[in-house]
Amino acid sequence: MFKIAVLASGGGSNLQSIIDSIDKGYLNCKIEMVIGSKEGIYALERAKHKGIATYVVSKKEYGVKVSDKILELIKDKVDLIVLAGYLSILQGDILKEFKNKIINIHPSLIPSFCGPKMYGLKVHEAVINSGVKFSGCTVHFVNEDVDGGEIIFQEVVPVYFEDTKEELQKRVLEKEHILLPKAIDLISKNEVEIINGKTRTRGVF
Ligand code: GAR
Repeated sequence: MFKIAVLASGGGSNLQSIIDSIDKGYLNCKIEMVIGSKEGIYALERAKHKGIATYVVSKKEYGVKVSDKILELIKDKVDLIVLAGYLSILQGDILKEFKNKIINIHPSLIPSFCGPKMYGLKVHEAVINSGVKFSGCTVHFVNEDVDGGEIIFQEVVPVYFEDTKEELQKRVLEKEHILLPKAIDLISKNEVEIINGKTRTRGVF
């Protein structure tokens, strides 16, 4: 069975979309563990509710060793690391050990509105302030460049003049909840290939 670790920092609606996809039989994998970046986040409650093992690896406790601690927890236990609203930056050995085996969901159309300090509602605020008419979300592989890995899937949503950042976030999240389980499914079936900085996907979800 294909095993994943999910890393989260907040409410965990993307984690929930993975759990629901597994429960409905759309996605054939096991969530081996959920790692939170701090205590008290709702993502951890969602995991505990399903009997999934949870860990907290906080910057407060581990400082610059956060990525190493995560690697220690997951090494030889999972096939893929899924960053589902995980707001810290992974660095060091974990990126080598899990090369092409870490994916992230980002709430914009990369390469726009991404990079260091661009996360969550900040992204939607920047999108609205820029005046662009479309936004969306991106699932991509994770490498040393923040939000710079190969793009796997993108979905587009309209941006309306009257939108608040919360309204735009809600519209984008609906797409995220479809895209992330779909990416996990295709990767677990070996249907995502990386060629010269781009991906080619096969198969349907
Ligand atoms: C999601 O919109 C996700 O794309 C974003 O945080 C939110 C988490 O929501 N991630 C980033 O901004 C990463 N740069 P959730 O906790 O409900 O899944």
